[in-house]
Amino acid sequence: MSEHPTPNGVQDAEEPRVPRRVIGTPVKAGPGTLGTTAPAEEPIVHEGVEYPDERSARKAERVVALLFLVTFLATVAFIASYVVFQVGDIERTQVSNLALGGSLSVALLALACGVVVWVRRLMPKYNLIQQRHAMATDPDVRQEVNAIFLQGANESGFVKYKLLRRTLLLAAAPLGLLPLVLLKDMGPLPGTSLRHTVWKKGTRLLVEGSGQPIRAADFNSPGGILSVVPEGHEHDLNALAKATLILIKFRPEDLKPGTKLNWTHDSIVAYSKICTHVGCPAALYEQTTHHILCPCHQSTFDATDGAKVIFGPAARPLPQLPIGVDGEGYLIAQSDFNVPVGPSFWERGDAEAEARGQA
Ligand code: FES
Repeated sequence: MSEHPTPNGVQDAEEPRVPRRVIGTPVKAGPGTLGTTAPAEEPIVHEGVEYPDERSARKAERVVALLFLVTFLATVAFIASYVVFQVGDIERTQVSNLALGGSLSVALLALACGVVVWVRRLMPKYNLIQQRHAMATDPDVRQEVNAIFLQGANESGFVKYKLLRRTLLLAAAPLGLLPLVLLKDMGPLPGTSLRHTVWKKGTRLLVEGSGQPIRAADFNSPGGILSVVPEGHEHDLNALAKATLILIKFRPEDLKPGTKLNWTHDSIVAYSKICTHVGCPAALYEQTTHHILCPCHQSTFDATDGAKVIFGPAARPLPQLPIGVDGEGYLIAQSDFNVPVGPSFWERGDAEAEARGQA
């Protein structure tokens, strides 16, 4: 029989490899006795390394095993969810996403917790010290570099030939300014162009795509919606990026105070189609709720109430365009928008003041 030191610092006697039969009630082993399960209150420290005591190690082991078991079950649930919950419509897709996301989250969370408990409660603890090397270069090396640099400077004649030195500096100075010249390639400054669109008094509203002018009397079914562009700019993508409209016909009783009624014609309202969040086309219209929805980040606007924001990240309503009819009964603009269209970052400083002045 031989004895081996263990991390616990206990001299562990080698057990005979044949099974032993115990007759009667075994005598309880005392603390520190070989094979004891009695609790040791303090962690065991051996040569500066702290080991967990036997009882808390067993407890931690059970906790980690339980967490890994949860991971296993959640992973099985993930696979089962993938098979059971088929997508097809929005509701079934939501259920599938919920089941997949929920089970995967639980699996990853339990796995991470298990690993953390394992490391913190079961692994030995000791201080690791990494020595830093001195950052400064050796003084001899620095001296040598200095000497080489001075030798190079002397050999170049940079100090000796004044004319060369001065003309070199003269030649190098404009090079530093070149990036400023290249800034010009970024194009002209936008000026106030972002605050205005091509709409002006008398511009006819045309149906996007067909280019047909819109007779107000023909656009008479409440709930109808059209995508509209300004006459003369049907193919000007720069202009259309700001000027495209949606036109909606309401029942008079549907309109709420947020809508400027004197900017409508026969309960037909025109709003900018450019979402005030980051500029996607907000053209999904839900007829029963009168909601305009932007598909990019789900900003939702109440079309009956001045297109005010009722949901989502947009910070302000879709601007309303004043409209009327010309002598032939076609819908026309009464003016440009009175606020900048599109993302809110366009609406700054002077533009806001200008808008307030016009209001
Ligand atoms: S661009 Fe419309 S919600 Fe973001």
